[in-house]
Amino acid sequence: MPSAPMFSPTQLAARAAYLLRGNDRGTMTSAAPRLYPHQWSWDAAFVTVGLASLSVERAAAELDHLFTAQWRNGMIPHIVFANGVDGYFPGPARWQCAQLSPDAPASPATSGICQPPVHAIAVERILERARRRGRTVRGVAEEFLDRRWGNLMAWHRWLAAARDPQGRGRITLYHGWESGMDNSPRWDPAYSRVVVGDLPPYQREDNHVVTDASQRPSDVEYDRYMWLVEQMKRCHYSDTELPKVMSFQMEDVFVSAIMSVASDTLARIGEDHAKPLSDVRELREYAARFAVGVNATADPRTGAAHDVDVLTGRAVHTETLAVFSPLLVGGLPWDTERSLLRLFDGPRYCGHPDLRYAVPPSTSPVAAAFRPREYWRGPVWPVMTWLFSWAFARRGWADRSALLREEGLRQASDGSFAEYYEPFTGEALGSMQQSWTAASVLDWLG
Ligand code: SER
Repeated sequence: MPSAPMFSPTQLAARAAYLLRGNDRGTMTSAAPRLYPHQWSWDAAFVTVGLASLSVERAAAELDHLFTAQWRNGMIPHIVFANGVDGYFPGPARWQCAQLSPDAPASPATSGICQPPVHAIAVERILERARRRGRTVRGVAEEFLDRRWGNLMAWHRWLAAARDPQGRGRITLYHGWESGMDNSPRWDPAYSRVVVGDLPPYQREDNHVVTDASQRPSDVEYDRYMWLVEQMKRCHYSDTELPKVMSFQMEDVFVSAIMSVASDTLARIGEDHAKPLSDVRELREYAARFAVGVNATADPRTGAAHDVDVLTGRAVHTETLAVFSPLLVGGLPWDTERSLLRLFDGPRYCGHPDLRYAVPPSTSPVAAAFRPREYWRGPVWPVMTWLFSWAFARRGWADRSALLREEGLRQASDGSFAEYYEPFTGEALGSMQQSWTAASVLDWLG
């Protein structure tokens, strides 16, 4: 285990840029060279953040590619498949989106679910980086915004209408993959009630790449993941049918917080760039509605937020990153927010005495569900450290943001750009050369 940084900041930035170039397939960056050889929706947004410090043009192209796969109803699918690339399951033949849904594009092939709406953050970075450059680059960024404003509005509108039809201010997910935190303990109670039916046979590919089973979701979990896809296919991925048939329905407080801050970010961009006033107003309404929805779940004493199981009507309390959702949106009473910040800093999260770096683990090390090596059940995900450092800067907490950046960079100085890390030993886990890890580092160093 390295006791001192192995790479200096300059070396690290060069390696991160080199990595992104290596994962570049022309107009899209694969999320990781072997485990994830396609474009993932929220990965693409974080990758764009990193690319923006290298080339505003290339960064805009990354999101352009994602938008070419946007569904007619406004959904941005969670995977855009690279043409003719094998090695990932479930691929296009399993999803069958274009065959089953009138909303799916004929090309490129996509999955049939969504991921957290972090894209406005990437658009913001494109515009910010362009501002420091010459007139030509600024023009590229502005043309990009003009070209894609409609796509961004359609995406946020779809989320608000299709995934929060009652206006509760919380986004409903029909698959744990939609949260991006696939096997988080947050979804355990809901998944335990998913009864796998007549599941067509399949072969996992992920465990051929990451061969240590303790780092990936289990086969039992995969069966449930695949069964939910079959349920979606049976109703042709219809927004109105999903609530009637899906055996997994969770209001995700963290995605809802992202929806709020992304809507607010987009509203500011819209204002600065003379977008229609009605759009800006609509975005501000989303920002407020989802902030209220998030904060309504917060414990009045600790401030910790929770998800809601739509099918049972019950609150699901887990000790994961999601408890900090109110810190992203703001708006808690002052003393409650202070309690939540103490929880973030304290021994249940960043201040746990055995942590190698003071960054938030995906699941609290003191939680019964904690597994230090298992994907979203405990490891530290550098991109989450980045997201919190971004969100804290946005809240005006420069010192907190800088601290996360510093610790995140210390962790990344091993140069592996791992997907996730063991919180106590700092061992690099999952896929190496993960694009969004490199992108986070580049943005921090940019
Ligand atoms: N993260 C999932 C996977 O591991 C899918 O989005 O394949």
